Amino acid sequence: MSLHRDGSITTFLGLQLLLLFFCFLSPASFSDATIPSTLDGPFTPVTITLDTSLRGKAVDLPDTDPRVQRYVTGFQPEQISLALSSNYDSIWVSWITGEFQIGMNVTPLDPKSIASIVQFGTLGDSLIHTATGSSLVYNQLYPFEGLLNYTSGIIHHVRITGLKPSTVYYYRCGDPSHGMSKIHHFKTMPVSSPSSYPSRIAIVGDTGLTYNTTATISHLVQNSPDLVLLVGDVSYANLYLTNGTSSDCYSCNFSNTPIHETYQPRWDYWGRFMENLTSTVPLMVVEGNHELELQAGNKTFEAYSSRFAFPYIESGSTSKFYYSFNAGGIHFVMLGAYIDFDRSGEQYEWLKRDLAKFNRSVTPWLVVTWHPPWYSTYTAHYKEAECMKVAMEELIYSYGTDIVFNGHVHAYERSNRVYTTN
Ligand SMILES: *[C@@H]1O[C@H](CO)[C@@H](O)[C@H](O)[C@H]1NC(C)=O
Ligand SMILES: *[C@@H]1O[C@H](CO)[C@@H](O)[C@H](O)[C@H]1NC(C)=O
Ligand SMILES: *[C@@H]1O[C@H](CO)[C@@H](O)[C@H](O)[C@H]1NC(C)=O
Ligand SMILES: *[C@@H]1O[C@H](CO)[C@@H](O)[C@H](O)[C@H]1NC(C)=O
Ligand SMILES: *[C@@H]1O[C@H](CO)[C@@H](O)[C@H](O)[C@H]1NC(C)=O
Ligand SMILES: *[C@@H]1O[C@H](CO)[C@@H](O)[C@H](O)[C@H]1NC(C)=O
Ligand SMILES: *[C@@H]1O[C@H](CO)[C@@H](O)[C@H](O)[C@H]1NC(C)=O
Repeated sequence: MSLHRDGSITTFLGLQLLLLFFCFLSPASFSDATIPSTLDGPFTPVTITLDTSLRGKAVDLPDTDPRVQRYVTGFQPEQISLALSSNYDSIWVSWITGEFQIGMNVTPLDPKSIASIVQFGTLGDSLIHTATGSSLVYNQLYPFEGLLNYTSGIIHHVRITGLKPSTVYYYRCGDPSHGMSKIHHFKTMPVSSPSSYPSRIAIVGDTGLTYNTTATISHLVQNSPDLVLLVGDVSYANLYLTNGTSSDCYSCNFSNTPIHETYQPRWDYWGRFMENLTSTVPLMVVEGNHELELQAGNKTFEAYSSRFAFPYIESGSTSKFYYSFNAGGIHFVMLGAYIDFDRSGEQYEWLKRDLAKFNRSVTPWLVVTWHPPWYSTYTAHYKEAECMKVAMEELIYSYGTDIVFNGHVHAYERSNRVYTTN
């Protein structure tokens, strides 16, 4: 098979950049004769004129919106989320305890002061297994007069193992001496084989936290996905100053700031808004440009690296910026577009090892995702990812990648099969 790619949908376009797209992958329907496959192509390109009524202004949920409020007290868990490990038999549970601080002279919480415990089992009234994990806090510091610093609540990550495939598990998380969460549940992925697949996978990117995000996420939830992939650009906290003032166009309005600021509470708002979904359905995230968030000491990607769990160690990667996992008969590879991808670098070496292990008799589908598309006809971000394409296209083509999903460009595009621009 050869490489073909799918693009992204958007609800509207423009400089607002807070937009989202999503699409559902239902592997079972790939064989449906009524849905043309790219194998039936090449098709003549079709362009649909932009509906200018969609070129609206994406309005962020304000910090007063009930859906972004902290609803717990003390060190009770909030922002609960799940992520798959590399196979069905293990899953990551993440949550946050304690309050973030933003201002002058913030004092980080002690992550060791609160335990990281998940109690789980296949019966809701008998959580007979216990798993423990680790915790951390991260800071977003700006050593400039007038800018505010942020320190997060305590972020907990626990990996639970020994799970059976296609099985519903109940769990609660927290520290028993400070309060456990209510009981949530999730379903493990099916066994990896040519005949078993999750029923529905949602793929979304460039979510932000606007009123349009809420429409997209509720549509997504109504479609009951078993798994969600978020191919970069999450909270858009970097469209804000540290004092909480936002702009659709950061560079137009804040051209005189000493560093590109962020308002980290937007990440907490995003985690709270998403919790109903992410506490039940695993969310697999890979970094986009909005996650860069440069701060003191040249640190970058701190919120991204700290808040999410990634199966990077389980998939033989040494970096949270790229990893892989299986979901039934699909092998997903999440690539890092904002870290070294050169042929002499670690990511490329890891990708070679990962693809060499890929076995079509176990996972017939190879799906690769990363944030900025290599192929797009839209003016915004045109050919922006050429260097990554030059470095990696031959390798992912040589293993017969079936589908590529990207985000970044806020316009829907789906292409014929393509390799080296042909
Ligand atoms: C924020 O942290 C930086 C680095 O530690 C420090 O230089 C700066 O003074 C702090 N700012 C405030 C407002 O506390
Ligand atoms: C986006 O949200 C705005 C309200 O903030 C609404 O007027 C507009 O219709 C929405 N756009 C789409 C495409 O749903
Ligand atoms: C935040 O800072 C900007 C730039 O200094 C200023 O224009 C704005 O009024 C401030 N907002 C608040 C809420 O203090
Ligand atoms: C932000 O910049 C845009 C483009 O220059 C301008 O139209 C808009 O009025 C500015 N907004 C604010 C709040 O200054
Ligand atoms: C999450 O679910 C609860 C209970 O159904 C509901 O009250 C709340 O509004 C939901 N939150 C969001 C952000 O949709
Ligand atoms: C920050 O990183 C940039 C680019 O990697 C480098 O040029 C610069 O010297 C670094 N600065 C510090 C203070 O480490
Ligand atoms: C691929 O998986 C099949 C089915 O489990 C197995 O028989 C075969 O040995 C595997 N191939 C390699 C190269 O490991």
